[in-house]
Amino acid sequence: MAGNVTAIRHRIEVNTCEHLAARTLSLNEIAFCNVATALPAVFDPYDVNRKTGSFIVIDRYTNRTVGAGMIAFPLRRATNVAWQAVSVGRSERAALMNQKPCIVWFTGLSGAGKSTIANLVDQKLFAASRHTMLLDGDNVRHGLNCDLGFSEADRVENIRRAGEAAKLMADSGLIVLCSFISPHRAERDMVRNLVAEAEFIEVFVDTPIEECARRDPKGLYAKARSGKIKNFTGVDAPYEAPTRPEIHLRTVGQTPDKLAETVVDFLAARGIIGGR
Ligand code: ADX
Repeated sequence: MAGNVTAIRHRIEVNTCEHLAARTLSLNEIAFCNVATALPAVFDPYDVNRKTGSFIVIDRYTNRTVGAGMIAFPLRRATNVAWQAVSVGRSERAALMNQKPCIVWFTGLSGAGKSTIANLVDQKLFAASRHTMLLDGDNVRHGLNCDLGFSEADRVENIRRAGEAAKLMADSGLIVLCSFISPHRAERDMVRNLVAEAEFIEVFVDTPIEECARRDPKGLYAKARSGKIKNFTGVDAPYEAPTRPEIHLRTVGQTPDKLAETVVDFLAARGIIGGR
């Protein structure tokens, strides 16, 4: 059954049984966690029944067994929360705006040009009287995600929250432009799966790292390469390039304006913004 570890409550030091604060776990570490399953699950506490009170964790991408667990007690957090039916839905809202809602997700290295291109697409759509919203990683990290850093776990949460926010905006009928490094394929796919297949448009802003480091608009590559910033994407943290993005923008030798036009043309061809 699909599921997620939604929180690490505390790590348990095996030798002393001490409870320690932790945000991530390393190999062979043990923790008390909250787990959410995609569908209701039948189980017993491990104390009551060892068979129905235990589970293993399989990574859905590699199919490897990566952990095992014992169940302490149910949380029932979401069981009394019903889905409230609403009369004015996303299609009614979008029809009023004369457009189809979607999430246009710009991914790429820091300095690749994501924000510049997304901003130009936004300007062009706005000039064409389209209803849009722009979510930019740097900006969202000042508010909604101001408690998050750049560890693997924080980046996962950064994209989860940004994706959920983008979905709410798409539900209101908007064309939502999102500009996040979003270095992991799994999280980008998670956002893709929040909306209908045709409503997620992944734009790979493909700029070689040497070019990003040469541009270095915020001086961050220089700092990362001299060890002043840790976990910097492309330097000492990974970036997993999209394998089949809807739009692949190779930026070297192209103007940002031309690249933004490519995105707008794609939206027109998809029928998202009607003919131009
Ligand atoms: S993401 O990896 O979690 O998707 P996000 O797009 O929100 O990143 O934020 C990236 C921005 O944060 C970069 O444009 C850069 O300005 C800044 N930044 C600060 N520290 C780092 C870091 N270690 N790695 C990447 N970007 C960083």
